[in-house]
Amino acid sequence: MEVNRVKLIYFSPTGTTQKVLESIAEGIAAEDVKHINLTLPEGTQQTIPPFSDELVIIGAPVYGGRLPVDVINRFKKLEASNTLAILIVVFGNRDFEDALLELKNLAIELGFRPVAGGAFIGEHSYATEEMPIANGRPDSLDVKKAMDFGAKVKDKVTALLSLDTKMDLEIPGSFPYEAKGARNLAVSPVTQKDICTVCGTCASVCPTAAISINESVETKIELCIRCCACIKNCPEEARVMNDEMLKNIADWLNQNCRVRKEPQVFGVDV
Ligand SMILES: Cc1cc2nc3c(=O)[nH]c(=O)nc-3n(C[C@H](O)[C@H](O)[C@H](O)COP(=O)(O)O)c2cc1C
Ligand code: SF4
Ligand code: SF4
Repeated sequence: MEVNRVKLIYFSPTGTTQKVLESIAEGIAAEDVKHINLTLPEGTQQTIPPFSDELVIIGAPVYGGRLPVDVINRFKKLEASNTLAILIVVFGNRDFEDALLELKNLAIELGFRPVAGGAFIGEHSYATEEMPIANGRPDSLDVKKAMDFGAKVKDKVTALLSLDTKMDLEIPGSFPYEAKGARNLAVSPVTQKDICTVCGTCASVCPTAAISINESVETKIELCIRCCACIKNCPEEARVMNDEMLKNIADWLNQNCRVRKEPQVFGVDV
């Protein structure tokens, strides 16, 4: 099967998942590459026609060893009929546990046919300059691995004689899922009013519309998924996570996840 059209579908609050998918697409080098970015509330309003004979790359970050609930809700609107899909999760150098298996099961339920999968590493959402956790990743080595992976998947798809060829993609993980996913915590970043310029950037990058801008920045804690997009995009460094428990988690990750993990791929050899 020729690979001419590639669609990238993703939820990526801090951009690492998007970068990995773009690198894979670069390795595939298809003529027609389209993005279906389901990160922001506006993105979820777009009409997405059912997928057919294109190649799709689906990507999500790992939250608590699972897919974020918002990913499941957004992806559930996708419809496919036997469409070949590359499945990608991106994690912050701790572990991806059941997330890729969960993405595979969801993709099959939606009508996709998983052809290959990968777990890549991205800078942890909770990382800061003072508290680094996989900072700067995906880096140039990750990008190369993602491009090589894309090229290998292209070869695999090109060699397929028919879409009915049997493909059973083995993905690690437990089913029923053992990882618990992101915990429900009434916690969100806060704004340091003395340095905030009320520019609105934080509201514009929030995937759950938890932030509104009036005279000052207001955050609806119950909507916050702690993705940290507002913190990483604030031009004044005015958004911070002050909560003691989350600071302790970031400290633990910083201490215990220092050894560099490498991307793992499934369904092709890279
Ligand atoms: C609530 C939450 C839970 C997370 N859980 C995990 C985890 O279980 N394992 C891990 O290695 N990284 C975890 N991360 C880090 C993200 O998976 C990682 O930073 C990813 O690169 C973010 O993707 P994005 O840039 O596309 O938003 C978590 C991040 C958040 C916000
Ligand atoms: S992005 Fe930063 S400076 Fe701009 S409104 Fe939000 S908190 Fe304030
Ligand atoms: S308010 Fe919460 S959900 Fe919105 S960008 Fe910030 S961390 Fe993410």
